[in-house]
Amino acid sequence: MRLLFFAGSTREGSYNKTLARLAQHIATANGIEGVLVDLRDYPMPLYNGDLEAEQGPPQKAAEFKALLAEYQGVFIASPEYNSSVTPLLKNTIDWVTRVRAKGETGLEVYKSRVFAISGASPGYYGAMRSLLNLRQILEVGVGATVIPQQLALPRANDAFDEAGSLKDKAQQTLLKDVVEKLAIAAKRFAG
Ligand SMILES: Cc1cc2nc3c(=O)[nH]c(=O)nc-3n(C[C@H](O)[C@H](O)[C@H](O)COP(=O)(O)O)c2cc1C
Repeated sequence: MRLLFFAGSTREGSYNKTLARLAQHIATANGIEGVLVDLRDYPMPLYNGDLEAEQGPPQKAAEFKALLAEYQGVFIASPEYNSSVTPLLKNTIDWVTRVRAKGETGLEVYKSRVFAISGASPGYYGAMRSLLNLRQILEVGVGATVIPQQLALPRANDAFDEAGSLKDKAQQTLLKDVVEKLAIAAKRFAG
């Protein structure tokens, strides 16, 4: 059983990348195999139906879908833009659904693994509204299972210490719980 970690931001100093990195470290420290990837390595054009009709889904969407398929559990750190998910994250989720073999709906890769979501924001709500939207996209939109445990991290600009851990021990414990519950659910999914 292996877990994949990524953030819905490609920004160099992204708080959500820091959160995804910390979650991956927590997994590794607890004997859970986890890999961190950066969406910067999977650039895709903004979805456009004409583009898809002419060229099909981009190669990077196929690559990202193949990557997802290698992991039984996926952790997403989701930033909040105007109360919702980033266009980058939504576009990536959307394109992956368009990579379809004959007879497939495109949702198989989402339905057959388990997700955990968390988010970080310098604001007061800690990306909570982004998480509500992301949960809807994943569960209602693409049929994924998302575990109930999640961390919404407010004031992210002052939340991490120099080692990349959370200064607030209660928040660190919450994130550990998210990772552990994801691993348990992923093992169940893996059968
Ligand atoms: C277009 C835009 C809209 C934003 N809207 C929100 C918002 O609704 N709520 C919030 O907490 N932060 C909002 N922010 C601030 C982001 O949380 C902040 O830029 C954060 O650092 C982005 O995540 P990252 O650090 O992982 O890149 C917004 C930022 C941008 C660029």
